[in-house]
Amino acid sequence: MKRIVVFTGAGISAESGIRTFRDSGGLWEEHDVKDVATPEAWSRNPDLVTRFYNQRRKQMLESTPNDGHLALAKLESKYDVTIITQNVDDLHERAGSSKVIHLHGELSKSRSTANPDLVYNVDGWELTADSKCELGSRLRPHIVWFGEDVPMMIPAIQLTSVADIFIIVGTSLEVYPAAGLVLRAPDESLKYYVDPNANSISNINNLHIVREKSGIALPQLVDELLSMSTK
Ligand code: APR
Repeated sequence: MKRIVVFTGAGISAESGIRTFRDSGGLWEEHDVKDVATPEAWSRNPDLVTRFYNQRRKQMLESTPNDGHLALAKLESKYDVTIITQNVDDLHERAGSSKVIHLHGELSKSRSTANPDLVYNVDGWELTADSKCELGSRLRPHIVWFGEDVPMMIPAIQLTSVADIFIIVGTSLEVYPAAGLVLRAPDESLKYYVDPNANSISNINNLHIVREKSGIALPQLVDELLSMSTK
């Protein structure tokens, strides 16, 4: 089976009603990212950060996958597909994609502030000051904040470097190290970039830019890729 790696950003969830980051004037749901998405914000005001992510989690649970997420899941009938997402929502999983790598963490999980290896599923949508790990320390959202390491970059780079087809969807490619992934796909691989505001990317061979919303473009692209495949 040919290998497809799909690298997604906030744009793929926009049509499910989840706002992107850089389309809203530098603010994320009315907050400066420094106040809610950094380790310093957590040290200063863990209750504010917890409430902020509770709201994001609630919004995620009220959202459903859109045609873009659903189309990508269909690719698995003829390809070995890995989704590498910068998104913290679970819409790819709920659409049926079976291999999803979250570079920036997952809203549906929490982790211990005493031992980062202790990761838990969040029951419902709410964490509180009383949500504790088994060691008795406070639980934080399982999110990679600005200034923190991105451990899932290592498997993401390995998978991208052997992809036959690489599809970029709905990302401004402004946040590193994640954005650097686009340079890791093999030269000869077939590449697509689906985003209504896609800028061209220099030094990348075989790149087809599709300036269209993913809910419209991905069902078409997936149909094309399925008809091309011989398995
Ligand atoms: N379909 C496809 N793309 C869309 C759509 C749509 N319907 N609507 C908007 N977009 C595109 C925008 O044109 C933009 O290029 O989605 C992109 C969203 O870009 P950003 O808001 O910068 O989101 P992203 O690239 O995912 O941000 C990366 O930054 O804030 C951090 O950790 C956060 O994971 C996030 C990272």
